[in-house]
Amino acid sequence: MQCSFLEAVLRNHPAVPSQIPLPTLTMSSLASSAPATNPSMSTTPATPAAPIFDKGLGNTIAATTQMSFIDGGKGVLEYVGIDIDSLARYSTYEETVFLLWNTKLPDAAQLRALSSALQSEYEIPDAIYDMIRSFPTTAVPMHALRTLVSALGLHDVEADADGIEASKRKALRLVAKTPTLIANFDRHRSGKAFVRPNPSFDIATNFLWMLNGEKPTAAMARGLDVCLILHADHGLNASTFAARVTIATLSDLYSAMTTAVGTLKGPLHGGANEEVMIMLDEIGSMEKVEAFVQDKLERKELIMGFGHRVYKAYDPRATYLKTFAKQIATDTGNLKLFEMSQKIEEIVIAAKADKGIFPNVDFYSATTYHCLGIKTDLFTCMFAMSRMSGWCGHCIEQLEDNRLIRPQAKYTGPHGAAYVELSKR
Ligand code: CMC
Repeated sequence: MQCSFLEAVLRNHPAVPSQIPLPTLTMSSLASSAPATNPSMSTTPATPAAPIFDKGLGNTIAATTQMSFIDGGKGVLEYVGIDIDSLARYSTYEETVFLLWNTKLPDAAQLRALSSALQSEYEIPDAIYDMIRSFPTTAVPMHALRTLVSALGLHDVEADADGIEASKRKALRLVAKTPTLIANFDRHRSGKAFVRPNPSFDIATNFLWMLNGEKPTAAMARGLDVCLILHADHGLNASTFAARVTIATLSDLYSAMTTAVGTLKGPLHGGANEEVMIMLDEIGSMEKVEAFVQDKLERKELIMGFGHRVYKAYDPRATYLKTFAKQIATDTGNLKLFEMSQKIEEIVIAAKADKGIFPNVDFYSATTYHCLGIKTDLFTCMFAMSRMSGWCGHCIEQLEDNRLIRPQAKYTGPHGAAYVELSKR
């Protein structure tokens, strides 16, 4: 058997002069010439390209995606080439999920098929309801969600099934079941009976139905639907990267989603929306905004909901959410919250715009979620509920063209240190 790939590698290797004829390589000649000793002891090691040091990986492109495009300088976000503003205005979460997973908008029959496939997967196993019952009512919702997403894998006979098609089926289940996990954990900790999902509702309506035990108004359901669209995908953000690292080891989708939920939880990532609401509660009134924000700026403390690793202009998701938050705050008698947010924005932009610090998606989503009647400590779960589609889509992209993700660390410790026996230390 000819080894044309290996030959090509050798012919292009800088250590092999082009005029030297290469022997014909066969598997048997390779076997007979293989070193008998540990290859790491070889006197002619391969010379890998010199790695660059990029703390935080902000200048590193580590994967390809066809789902979302971000121009951080201009404040542009597109899903499969469609501007996020158009999607927020005209699309639905289900349609957006189809777009992300199929890189095209669905026709009516395709959208119906995806919606009913999702609806048929809303329900979770009884054993998962029992598990929720066993959780402390004081549990932090993101801890509960991380545990429950992992536990879903215990009840999926396809959990470890290989292949893209099996992963797509698992993705559908994860997106469909996550709202049921979140809403029913919240009911459990509030001492309320579980509400089973309603398979005739869309995802946003179904979530609010389970959370509150009553069908939401169309305006409330649409409010949540817009938030789900805006949070669905965002390039190689920290939780998506974490998910891709996990799936790239050829682990399973439940493990990758558990990784992602854990990564999203941090206050520098998805946890910021909760921190924004806590800040608004702490400030309490319009008169206290100026002093509060100036004090934070003077102390060089972070103001949650501002700044972004990629956007150095206004986050386009925040542009739409700001308009939306004003509307929903007016409709629900929470205008004070919106006006305080707007004042904070003015002060931070005046002080920090030159550094590219503007509101990010988390800033106005806090007001929006609050107006939708969602408790502050559930905000990050709402982000996870939406991003589940982006995470799963990225994992499938990773599997379609997989390579283990394994960067290097720059070693900064000592060399040649002596081992000292315990009794002599
Ligand atoms: N408030 C005040 N100053 C800020 C903020 C902020 N929120 N964010 C950045 N800065 C300052 C930062 O201190 C630095 O100042 P200096 O040059 O004097 O040291 C300068 O702006 C540049 O910031 P950076 O540290 O280079 O920004 P980064 O890319 O490392 O961090 C970030 C990005 C999102 C972690 C950071 O902006 C932050 O911690 N923001 C608050 C948390 C937050 O809202 N996170 C949600 C992000 S959007 C949702 C998501 O995708 O997760």
